[in-house]
Amino acid sequence: MKIVVFGAGSIGVYVGCSLLAAGADVLLLGRARMGERIARHGVVLTDLHGRRMAFDGPRIPYTEDPGRLAEADLILVTVKSADTGTAADAIHAYAKPSRLVLSLQNGVGNVATLRARLKDMRVTGGMVPFNVVQMEEGRFHRGTEGELMVEAVPEIGRWQSLFETARLPLVMREDFACVQWGKLLLNLNNPVNALSGLPLKAELSQRAYRRCLALLMEEALAALKAAGIEPAKVARVSPAMLPRILRLPDWLFKRLAGAMLRIDPEARSSMWEDLQAGRRTEIDYLNGAVVALARASGRTAPANERIVELIRRAEAGARKDLDGGVMYHLLSTSAAGNVVTGAKA
Ligand SMILES: NC(=O)c1ccc[n+]([C@@H]2O[C@H](COP(=O)([O-])OP(=O)(O)OC[C@H]3O[C@@H](n4cnc5c(N)ncnc54)[C@H](OP(=O)(O)O)[C@@H]3O)[C@@H](O)[C@H]2O)c1
Repeated sequence: MKIVVFGAGSIGVYVGCSLLAAGADVLLLGRARMGERIARHGVVLTDLHGRRMAFDGPRIPYTEDPGRLAEADLILVTVKSADTGTAADAIHAYAKPSRLVLSLQNGVGNVATLRARLKDMRVTGGMVPFNVVQMEEGRFHRGTEGELMVEAVPEIGRWQSLFETARLPLVMREDFACVQWGKLLLNLNNPVNALSGLPLKAELSQRAYRRCLALLMEEALAALKAAGIEPAKVARVSPAMLPRILRLPDWLFKRLAGAMLRIDPEARSSMWEDLQAGRRTEIDYLNGAVVALARASGRTAPANERIVELIRRAEAGARKDLDGGVMYHLLSTSAAGNVVTGAKA
């Protein structure tokens, strides 16, 4: 039973090598650059609990050839959202029918994109709650905790014990769409983190940045309510309580919500990585999805619109070290301006 990991990046390499260590037959499919890096340095998986697992380069099956999707029984999709369509085309072209395709991506539209193209496959969704950052040489560092959640489909059952052995237990969820929205609420912090230029722990320790996130979340919660979607609780705090807790002063936040800061000091969002590497981010699929959801019910989400715009500018080379107070001013004046416009309308 072979697993092909489509997209050898932070999540793909971490999950793929964890499965490899558990004895699975795994093939990483990725770019030449990553193949060269792995061949030269091997892979070292580390985590916030001090776990360290090293793999020699030659021990890691790696290919750039999508034709090898033909060998897959299970395909894990770990490309960024903008690449999902291309990945779906390659899977359609090369993989055998009725194989299981599991998206381990953020955002709420990837499973639908894959399903639309892969009608003769079983496509399902997974949610990765933890953070992985690429460090020096071949090190991939997991900086936060949490268990993978997957859409409960019978085909996933046969893979469960393997993921369990790989220390990636799968939690089955009947309400997977709600899980995805619950995760997306947390991902609204990705642009705040990327624009702060700080590690996640340092950023979330500052009330000014947390107030930005609270603003973005409130707009999302209002849009979800209008759409009749109840986001699932995927963190320690329920979605409805999150904005209130984020706005607490630093001393009280640390006392009441210290678990939210149980993050490795090295961890950063993958959007920060994208900006550093000069790549396009997933902003359209995260905060952009909130803007679209709000519009669908005749609402607006001005702070989310504004942060989409700020990320666009950062992608084009603008500064990526915004002070929390300045960021809050930019977002809150957009929101306030919109209320005035709305009142006139
Ligand atoms: N990183 C995290 O902590 C984290 C946590 C939870 C969820 N997620 C989600 O997981 C997904 C993957 O994120 P990531 O951070 O792992 O992204 P990533 O590091 O950018 O990895 C994706 C890799 O796939 C490669 N790729 C894209 N299209 C390809 C193709 N057609 N053929 C071969 N390789 C291809 C990319 O290469 P190029 O860059 O050269 O295109 C990149 O190396 C995203 O949806 C993200 O939101 C990430």
